[in-house]
Amino acid sequence: MSGVVGYIGDKNTVEVLVAGLHRIKGHDSAGVAVVNDQGVSAVKSLGKLENLEAKLAAQPVSGAVGIGHARWATHGVPNETNAHPHFDAADEIAIVHNGIIENYQELREALQQEGVTFRSQTDSETLVHLIRKYYTGDLFKAVQQALQGVKGAWALGVVCKNNPDVLVVARQGSPLVVGFGENEAFMGSDVSAIIKYTRDVVYLDHGQVCEIRCDGIKVEDLAGNAVTPEVIHVDWDDSAAEKDGFPHFMLKEIHQQPEVIRSTLRGRISDDGCSINLSDINISEEEIKACPRISIVACGTSWHAGMVGKYLIERFAKIPVELDLASEYRYRDPIVEENSIFIPVSQSGETADTMEAIRLAKSQGAKILAVVNTVGSSVARESHGVIYQQAGPEISIASTKAYTTQVTSFVLLTLWLAQIRGTMTQDQAKEMIEHLRTLPEKVQAVLENQDPIKALAGKPKYRDAQSAFFLGRDYNYPSALEGALKLKEVSYIHAEAYPGGEVKHGPIALVTNELMVVCVAPQGNIYDKMVSNIQAIKARAGLVISIATEGDDNIQAYSDDVLYIPECYEPFTPILVAIPLQLFAYYVATNRGCDVDQPRNLAKSVIVE
Ligand code: G6P
Repeated sequence: MSGVVGYIGDKNTVEVLVAGLHRIKGHDSAGVAVVNDQGVSAVKSLGKLENLEAKLAAQPVSGAVGIGHARWATHGVPNETNAHPHFDAADEIAIVHNGIIENYQELREALQQEGVTFRSQTDSETLVHLIRKYYTGDLFKAVQQALQGVKGAWALGVVCKNNPDVLVVARQGSPLVVGFGENEAFMGSDVSAIIKYTRDVVYLDHGQVCEIRCDGIKVEDLAGNAVTPEVIHVDWDDSAAEKDGFPHFMLKEIHQQPEVIRSTLRGRISDDGCSINLSDINISEEEIKACPRISIVACGTSWHAGMVGKYLIERFAKIPVELDLASEYRYRDPIVEENSIFIPVSQSGETADTMEAIRLAKSQGAKILAVVNTVGSSVARESHGVIYQQAGPEISIASTKAYTTQVTSFVLLTLWLAQIRGTMTQDQAKEMIEHLRTLPEKVQAVLENQDPIKALAGKPKYRDAQSAFFLGRDYNYPSALEGALKLKEVSYIHAEAYPGGEVKHGPIALVTNELMVVCVAPQGNIYDKMVSNIQAIKARAGLVISIATEGDDNIQAYSDDVLYIPECYEPFTPILVAIPLQLFAYYVATNRGCDVDQPRNLAKSVIVE
């Protein structure tokens, strides 16, 4: 999830582009390209935007049209070659791209056979060579034709030496907005990138291509049908724009979950919907078949995702899985069996304890297969293979979209392991994959029905609670752990999680009519047992909030309040119940006046032991 910007007009193009790039959070490299008398001039740089600015100061470039990019790597490590803009062989066409090209490998091979030489490892570079292939003088048409054979997601900006009065942009999946000024126009992957200059914008729709000139735009779909764009006036202030109109990054990121779960799945499911493709992760089928045991190690939220992973892998791929907190694993003299696979899970890829655990397992011969969000991070570099979460940069300290994409990554891994080890029939796999495909819509449905969650978080008995329990069983014990962690992180309410069946062994002594008890109880195998646990809490006057499946009226008898999620395939309920748990924590915290994006004493990336 990178950011793109573009400009055409009389202002200092580079200045406008860099100002836009400054608004894009989280990147590992950046670059700009402008069209001028010399052709297309580009400057790229690794690391912070300041590095790009220093380079631009040393070698200034100018032009009346330009594009810029802040990269969050998805394919290919962060370096200057992989940084955008990317060029065709003649250095006449330049592109910036945010998104993922699913069929880039096929396209790349076909182009290579036609004699094209690639300079980078990115999926994005494929697009510029394809555009070149179709270019006969009309840049708009070339982009339109090129994209017809492309699968995936894009927010794309294109400029060409021979068309100095045109900026072409296109969108599918990844957001893209075009803004207008007087005799000038702007483009950004986010309103915040252009709001300094304009508030009159057009949000491009999926599958649209747009030709931008100083005096107007032309929009068509990929098939060439004309579209009349709707101009919207945005009245957000600057800080709301940065958060896409949301008051906090945490809420923005909670709302990004349908989109990022789609990104995690993109390119992983076969066209017939029967199998999963993780062949790029650098662990061979032989290694999978020979593996006697998996070890999952992580910290914080990532550890909770790892626990869902353990339940999924053991149940469906039938491989024994042990789960450790990284800080414990390192000092407990773990036994690393021959041929075992070690799975570190990390959003940042920089957590010190996780890194040390990897080094220990590696030194004892384990194969390291990481689940990581940040391409090029230490964990990614230290591992033999990586499954990237594709959640994009997570700014809020409390992790939300990283968690659900980690769990989604474990679903993919489970299916892949089961496929190789033959522990699931094709029908079972197909059924699971069908459910997987509907997940983003279900997450969206929960997001669209958040008024009851908001209302609940405003009730004084919950908002002002001193203490809370979160209970769940089986797949949803980790959900309870994550729900408790979210609440304590952002609202500072003391919160503990227990497996529902464990409460009677001690914690029940703390249940009073002032204890808030959040019970995760969707329909499934363990539902009846969980209801018994809830009854035991209610019998002691605990304040019960149940999270249940739509249509479950029965649970109301034992609950003070119920939050509903749509009907869901049981193994995927941790992803769905995470949404009300995150929103509940968020709204309780904001009702208590807490700074949810910067909670006290916490850091996003813990690089010390
Ligand atoms: C910190 C963050 C947590 C995160 C944990 C592990 O404590 O505040 O949100 O879950 O680190 O981080 P990682 O980047 O390794 O997933």
